[in-house]
Amino acid sequence: MEFTEMLTRPSIPARLEELRRRAKEGRDPSAADETLQLLLTVARLCRPKRILEIGTAEGLTSVALLCECGQARLTTVELDEERYRRALENFAAFGVTERVHAILGDGGDVLSSLEEKFDLIFLDGPKVQYIKYLPDCKRLLNAGGVLFADDVLLYGWVTGKVPVPPKRRMLAEHIREYLKAVCEDPDFITSVLEIGEGVALSVKK
Ligand SMILES: C[S@@+](CC[C@H](N)C(=O)[O-])C[C@H]1O[C@@H](n2cnc3c(N)ncnc32)[C@H](O)[C@@H]1O
Repeated sequence: MEFTEMLTRPSIPARLEELRRRAKEGRDPSAADETLQLLLTVARLCRPKRILEIGTAEGLTSVALLCECGQARLTTVELDEERYRRALENFAAFGVTERVHAILGDGGDVLSSLEEKFDLIFLDGPKVQYIKYLPDCKRLLNAGGVLFADDVLLYGWVTGKVPVPPKRRMLAEHIREYLKAVCEDPDFITSVLEIGEGVALSVKK
């Protein structure tokens, strides 16, 4: 293993690593290694009892979080039925089904209908919707809870480091709006990190 690989390699079961390797070859890949490593580090620090994830895909980050947080329960939302079904299979294969509330549906609809509070929210669904999701994420987060939003820098498009392809301008604009809103919100302390495709880590005061 190369030294840099060792630095970013998440400590997860080998079977899960193999599933992640395969998923990365797909269209909607699982989180980057360094992003997952940070997510698990945050989870270890904040010891969440309840976790909410928007964007389950095949359930690989869900499983990693549940392995890291042995006492946690996780609610996760996925729009695509095939991925949702594969996630259910993975939850069963890793023996975590009883700690998961997997929902097949739209992240925005589910967020607005939820009432229970969470200690950690992993936002990894449609990036263009993050700004719409923010008020519900804030409402659903306990004080001291963490909102972890992935892919907020997207290939340098969001900061302008890399020119945004015309088709992606709206996406980059919506993510900028999200970052502005969450960074300026006095109820959050936010750090934006150049990890993976960019992470906004916001702690609710
Ligand atoms: C980047 S993938 C999630 C990856 C997963 N969290 C992981 O790291 O293994 C994003 C997922 O969000 C789902 N998605 C897209 N739009 C959605 C929506 N409106 N509501 C819920 N999920 C959505 C996609 O189908 C896709 O599976």
